[in-house]
Amino acid sequence: MRVIIVESPQAVAQCAADLVCQQLRQHPDSVLGLATGSTPVALYQALIQRYRSNQLSLSQTTSFNLDEYVGLPPSHPQSYRHFMEEQLFRHTDIDPGKTHVPDGMSDTEQSASAYEQAISDAGGIDLQILGIGQNGHIGFNEPGSSLSSRTRVKTLTPSTLEANRRFFADDEFQPHLAITMGIGTILDCRQVLLLATGKAKAEAIRRCVEGPLSAACPASSLQLHQHATVLVDADAASGLEHSEYYRWCEEQRQRLGHPSGH
Ligand code: PGA
Repeated sequence: MRVIIVESPQAVAQCAADLVCQQLRQHPDSVLGLATGSTPVALYQALIQRYRSNQLSLSQTTSFNLDEYVGLPPSHPQSYRHFMEEQLFRHTDIDPGKTHVPDGMSDTEQSASAYEQAISDAGGIDLQILGIGQNGHIGFNEPGSSLSSRTRVKTLTPSTLEANRRFFADDEFQPHLAITMGIGTILDCRQVLLLATGKAKAEAIRRCVEGPLSAACPASSLQLHQHATVLVDADAASGLEHSEYYRWCEEQRQRLGHPSGH
């Protein structure tokens, strides 16, 4: 696992944008895995800025989002399809026909297996962006999710519902179910890039990077991945026992151009 610690949330966004741009420069037709939530918003703003200054094109890129609420149509302001349109897609040259978000409206069993098939038909995901929940979830794989799970419906935990309540009006319906890529789906991606900022994520990051591999912390499954990068700010890194070592590895990497392993 590569752990990159930078000083601020802004630096996380810029560094993440560098890694995404590097991938797209090398392979403009890459398949990107995208995430919703507050954390990737600054990354998407950085990508939009780079698109506007002609440093980036998404015209050949395909995308697959991690998850979607069950029961919210794509046009619903709280749906993750709507979020992606607003936060990224409509501000870039990505082909709308090549963007995919799980379908939480039709027969979910069928749409889950169709989603897996679509990912496979696209050749698999080259680079998957992830956030992390305070409870260690990735996508909506809540604690206890099978480490080999595929796209399916999950029941959200009360803590996740509480964390996301801020997006919904007081009297607005908040779905308790979501359709999400599984942990097995995420582990199949060729590279994963997990982003986290702020003290509230410090314990989840500690468990993800240094805790035991356990379904109790779904993000710890990334310890099994050969090309996983965890990119955090100093606050989110504050629970890491070996943070000095991770910083030192990155210094070596930059000084020597040395491709430090994952
Ligand atoms: P956040 O959500 O970026 O809004 O903190 C992350 C997640 O729950 O995966």
